Amino acid sequence: MRSRSSVAPSRVVKAGLSRFAIARPTILAQEGDTVIVEVTNKLLLENLAIHWHGIRQIGTPWSDGTEGVTQCPVVPGDTFKYQFKVDRAGTYLYHAHYGMQRESGLYGSIRVSVPDNFTEPFAYDYDRSIILTDWYHKSTYEQATGLSSIPFVWVGEPQSLLIQGKGKFNCSSASLTANTCNTSNPECSPYAITVIPGKTYRLRVASLTALSALSFQIEGHNMTVVEADGHYVEPFVVKNLFIYSGETYSVLIQADQDPSRNYWMTTNVVGRLPNTTEGLGFLNYYPNHPRRSPPTVAPAGPIWNDTAPRVAQSLAIKAHHDFIVTPPTTSDRVIVFLNTQNEINGYRHWSVNNVSFTLPHTPYLIALKKKLHHQFSQTPPPEGYDSVNYDIYNVSKNPNATTSNAIYRLGFNTTVDIILQNANTMTVNNSETHPWHLHGHDFWVLGYGDGKFDMNKDPKKYNLVNPIRKNTVPLHPYGWTALRFKADNPGAWLFHCHIDAHFYMGMGVVFEEGIDKVGKLPSSIMGCGETRGVGRP
Ligand code: C2O
Ligand code: CU
Repeated sequence: MRSRSSVAPSRVVKAGLSRFAIARPTILAQEGDTVIVEVTNKLLLENLAIHWHGIRQIGTPWSDGTEGVTQCPVVPGDTFKYQFKVDRAGTYLYHAHYGMQRESGLYGSIRVSVPDNFTEPFAYDYDRSIILTDWYHKSTYEQATGLSSIPFVWVGEPQSLLIQGKGKFNCSSASLTANTCNTSNPECSPYAITVIPGKTYRLRVASLTALSALSFQIEGHNMTVVEADGHYVEPFVVKNLFIYSGETYSVLIQADQDPSRNYWMTTNVVGRLPNTTEGLGFLNYYPNHPRRSPPTVAPAGPIWNDTAPRVAQSLAIKAHHDFIVTPPTTSDRVIVFLNTQNEINGYRHWSVNNVSFTLPHTPYLIALKKKLHHQFSQTPPPEGYDSVNYDIYNVSKNPNATTSNAIYRLGFNTTVDIILQNANTMTVNNSETHPWHLHGHDFWVLGYGDGKFDMNKDPKKYNLVNPIRKNTVPLHPYGWTALRFKADNPGAWLFHCHIDAHFYMGMGVVFEEGIDKVGKLPSSIMGCGETRGVGRP
């Protein structure tokens, strides 16, 4: 079976609020389908690439859509064909993967249904998807310029939080013209999910925020978490769901409240001092009008600076007892990634083990396969940091920080452990939350802890019994997160912080495995760097 869909963004450059209610097709497929997406770049001046977030691209590493890693950018006027198999049911995403383009609105949902005759471990009547995002008024180009300037100009907190592309902004406080800010326009009413009283809804909630960690809640309704990043979760009930950029969850909601009114859905920033009003939506009980405001004040979400409940939720996510795939009990290699900020030649960066990542001119997949080894640094990047002397609670100094485009080469089929280690930023008493996303694989989440990871003691506490598999995981402030994966997917794969500005500032690494097993590369991924002139008709 094949599903065909085409995504043709007509405009990614943002302008005011007029693009809030942009139509984003959801890609619906069934497990085992081959999905073909023909992407035509109708932007006037911008390149693009589209990543299929959570799809492992087994056997098709060139369809991962990661500009600079797996392909050259799709230039204006060109059409690029992505073709890949969706080999596992679940909730996934697609989004731009060129510079910081994602946050301009090029994203959508991928929903892969289970094969015929397969029964999921929970029941529901209807299936709905929403994507949560944050929204900036400045263009990503202006933001990027600030990030790579001396003095450094941080992007700051977003102007709005959006639920399924819709948000609000106090027009009177901005110098916006009537046509970009018109509160009586029906497009300006909050997004509503209509429910039939008595029914059970599977709500697929995803976050593609540029920066914000979020809490999501529905007034008067508990949520039962049943899926995370395409894997069934041992069900647990929450009042609010913490969600980080790049994560997807399915929650079950029962429409069992007073049906004579609507209810608030809200999302708010956690983990950073919020300077953005909450995002609002309606849970609309049929037959009430979907734009009828609930009679109550929208409930406030949890307090932003309490890390404990967020760590508790992370720890609560375990594989469903009928769907446990246990990880290998030992690993072949342990790589520790210290996450820090630093200054390199006066520029502000994010770094891993004091190395800030930069993309080469020739995408890695091509350079590796064609053995163009001069295209990127061949000095292996560090496997850890000076964990004896480094003080994770103090302002990072990192006098020896550098930039590099070197990559981690993994033995094919080996088991790799990654320890993400958080630390203080360059600001006193500050450590941020980083959602790390791995392309091409799922990893087992073996554990989370507070403070500095202890190589002797902490591995003894790993969950090797029923760890969840995910593709995106939070690294909590001043904490560590331990992951394990099998390097069994030939290709070149990005692993990075899903905060746009952080990755732009160097917070990422690339893994290579089994490059000799990668099939013939399509010429459509070429055309830049040393392949300039190749691949263009
Ligand atoms: Cu959803 Cu490399 O990202
Ligand atoms: Cu980050």
